[in-house]
Order: sequence, then structure tokens, then C-alpha cells
Amino acid sequence: MSLIPKAELHLHIEGTLEPELAFALAERNGVELPYAGTEALRRAYLFSDLQSFLDLYYGLMVVLRTADDFTELADAYLTRAAAQGVRHAEIFFDPQAHTERGVPIGTVVEGLAHALDRAEERHGVSTRLIMCFLRDRSAESAMETLDAAKPYLHHITGVGLDSAETGHPPSKFREVYAAAESLGLRKVAHAGEEGPPAYVRQALDVLGVERIDHGLRSMEDPELVERLVREQVPLTLCPLSNVRLRAVDTLEEHPLRAMMDAGLLVTVNSDDPAYFGGYVGDTFHAVREALGLNHEQLRELALNSFRAAFLDQDEARRERCLAEVAGYDFDRE
Ligand code: HPA
Ligand code: ZN
Repeated sequence: MSLIPKAELHLHIEGTLEPELAFALAERNGVELPYAGTEALRRAYLFSDLQSFLDLYYGLMVVLRTADDFTELADAYLTRAAAQGVRHAEIFFDPQAHTERGVPIGTVVEGLAHALDRAEERHGVSTRLIMCFLRDRSAESAMETLDAAKPYLHHITGVGLDSAETGHPPSKFREVYAAAESLGLRKVAHAGEEGPPAYVRQALDVLGVERIDHGLRSMEDPELVERLVREQVPLTLCPLSNVRLRAVDTLEEHPLRAMMDAGLLVTVNSDDPAYFGGYVGDTFHAVREALGLNHEQLRELALNSFRAAFLDQDEARRERCLAEVAGYDFDRE
């Protein structure tokens, strides 16, 4: 595990639901899970692609019902993240995955916000909340979700786009992103995880996003790479996720290092750590071992995470974190 101070910018809070917590919540809420126990559930974490993961991931969310459940989920993540060197976390959540099951968006946001609001004091972690639209649902459903979130926007920094990518191009969400921008929300989107480089271009040109989540397949398009380098568009990579969801065959073959060498502004993140074999400190360690990254490359990844963070309202914190990374002594690890 690597303890270097870092920001985590690509993390789905529902993807931090560990089997033990899932079973505890199932019991508390009187929900029956179709697994004999935590070990049987863990054995089901063998994914062939993004969709096979999403089926299990959405299925397990039935245990999340009350605001307290969401608070507990976020508290558990923040405790683990802080123990792995995270100083700042920008946390995705999927409101439609809950509202479709009859859990009101206010229950979700207020439950999460309760944990996030005390995270700096309890864990030394500053936080932002990013609401993701499910791209395999309709644009109308995304717009209804944005409308439903209006009473809670003081808790929400930005919008994102996630779920099954293939066949659901960013352009489908042009209007809802325009509406989000007019509400003062920041904009990011998953693109180029399984989808083509054209989806990365659309996310930039049609949605006007400031960061690309994943962006892995950008590497197939040299002109796009050149643009991403020139504009220093941050890419929030999730190498363990890419291995587990079969976007790359092995961690050793992950293009992270080639992407850094090309001059891209890349960051390393955990995506759905309960499912993909590690939190972000574990991920730093794993890429270091698999790709032979040296200390200066790890330092660069950590610096990038704070450069790419939505810390514009707190530049003093960004500067403190950057200075902490610059002075980090790897020999203490
Ligand atoms: N991709 C798309 N949607 C997701 C992911 C992901 O990696 N994790 C959770 N929702
Ligand atoms: Zn993701």
C-alpha cells in the first residue's frame, strides 16, 4: 500500500459496499440476498466486462434503504481512504439506481452529506459530491433526476455520466449537461472505458466536461491524445478496474505509463474498490509493482490528483496538499 498523500477523483460510493456491510444492512432492513454469505458473494466477483459487473453492482444496492445506510457506507469508505493517504475525495453516486427502487433522492444525498460534512474533522479528508446520470437510461430520466436534485444542490459540486457505455454516446445528454452548467455545476463524464475515442471527443465538445473518467481508449487516436495533452484534460484512470472488467488483459499491460510518457495529465483511482481488489493506496502500490514506476512517477501521479481536483474554492488546501506531496519521503514507507 502506498501512503503518499493523494486525491481520489473517480470513486463510486456504491462501489465501496463491502460484503460484510452488505449483509449487515440486509439483516437490518429485512432484505434477502441471493448469496449464502460474504465468501459466496466474493466468489461471484468474476466479471467478463462492464455489464457483468453492473448487473451484480446494481443488484446488491437493494440493501441500501435509509439515510443512515448511506451515512454508514460513506463513513466506511472515508475511514479506509484516509488510512491509505487520501486527503481529498470527489465521490460519485448514482441517484437513479436508488430512486428507481423507491428510495428518494433526498434520503441518498442527505445520508451521504451527513458523512461527508464531518469528514474533514474526523478523517482529515475534504470532499465533493458528484451526481452521475445512468447513460443506459433516457435523457428525460436524467433531466428529471437533475430537477429532483434541485433542493440538494448545496451538497453537490458536479454531474457525471456512468453505467453501460457502448451504444450510449455522450451526445444523448447534451441538454441535461447544459442545464447542469446553468445551475453552476461542474461537469465530468465516463468516456473511452469500453466506448470508442469518439465518445471522449463528444464528452469534451458536446457536454463540455472538464475531466474524462477513464479515457483509456483515447490511446487509439493519436490526434485525440495530442489534444488531451495540449489542453491538459485530466483523465481519471482506474487500472485495477480495467483489469477486472477485462478492458486490459493484465496490469503489466496497462497503458498508464505510456500515457504519462505521452504527457497526458493522468490520475490513479480505485473506481469500485470493494469489487476490484483494492482501495487507492493499494492501487498506487499495484501499478508501481506491475509497471515499475519510480518514486518521481508516483509523486507526479499524486501531484496530478490535486491539480485535477475541484479545489478552486479552496486553493489554500490544494497548495498545502501539493507541498505535502512534493516533500513526501518514500523511505518512510
Ligand atoms: N463504469 C461505468 N459505470 C460504473 C462504473 C464504471 O467503471 N463503476 C460504477 N458504475
Ligand atoms: Zn467509474
